[in-house]
Amino acid sequence: MRHSQATVEATGVTVEFARGRSKQAPFRALDNVDLEARPGEVTCLLGPNGSGKTTLMNVLTGLLAPSSGHLRVLGLDPATQRRELLRRIALVPQETSLYPELTARENLVFHARYYGMPVRDQRARIEETLDLVQLGSRASDRAGTFSGGMQRRLALGKALMMKPDLLLLDEPTLGVDVQSREAIWQRIEEVAEEGRAVLLTTNYMEEAQRLGDHITIIDRGANVVRGSLTELTSQLPETKRAEVPPVSLQDVFLHFTGSGLRN
Ligand SMILES: Nc1ncnc2c1ncn2[C@@H]1O[C@H](COP(=O)(O)OP(=O)(O)OP(=O)(O)O)[C@@H](O)[C@H]1O
Ligand SMILES: [Mg+2]
Repeated sequence: MRHSQATVEATGVTVEFARGRSKQAPFRALDNVDLEARPGEVTCLLGPNGSGKTTLMNVLTGLLAPSSGHLRVLGLDPATQRRELLRRIALVPQETSLYPELTARENLVFHARYYGMPVRDQRARIEETLDLVQLGSRASDRAGTFSGGMQRRLALGKALMMKPDLLLLDEPTLGVDVQSREAIWQRIEEVAEEGRAVLLTTNYMEEAQRLGDHITIIDRGANVVRGSLTELTSQLPETKRAEVPPVSLQDVFLHFTGSGLRN
């Protein structure tokens, strides 16, 4: 599958943030990072807190300009073609954004219209989505009155009901209960099976292990390892591979990110 044209192509992406008042050198949040996401695949970007996942998402959607690097998303340059890009992707940022005064259903209707979902599809897809994120019985309640996890599910619903060329999810199931998570994972798999590209960030090993056709691990703003789960585990030293079978993604993650040293 890896030979098809990449939907996301990022090479050598570097992002620096000025450090407020001090005269210190800028903080390098991303250092020469490479990332690819392909149609028909779920690509997981895995990294500890502060490793630069959200920063990279912001670069890919044109919210943030990198100080250097080459970027193409759906063949477009996010820095100069942001409007066109945003029409073709569905995005769930890390911070949930909803209209709190609108009901759950109204939030979906608004999103569907704004992003030009065909009118004939709207009613069915909105009702299906409310079921998918298990908010059917709360569809007429205002989103602002929902619990954190319910708001997160509604925000996911907004993206999952669309048919984008690229689905970008920043920690999609953070705070989502197991009952809803399984349905959401299945929908994410379907999106990839439909031939679309999915790129998601996560801290959940289980999520990356389950969904990731391709996994890119970053740590402190830099690439550490990338490949399929099998490719990643084969990169562990012999001694670690021999440990309790089967080797889990968590073993790979802790080995390469040095997070094990912090504990
Ligand atoms: N606007 C900003 N100004 C200065 N530093 C920033 C800014 N945005 C992010 N950073 C820094 O860049 C680093 C990467 O942050 P980022 O939010 O991308 O991490 P993350 O991998 O998404 O973490 P998490 O798992 O907690 O969501 C952090 O050290 C953060 O403090
Ligand atoms: Mg983040």
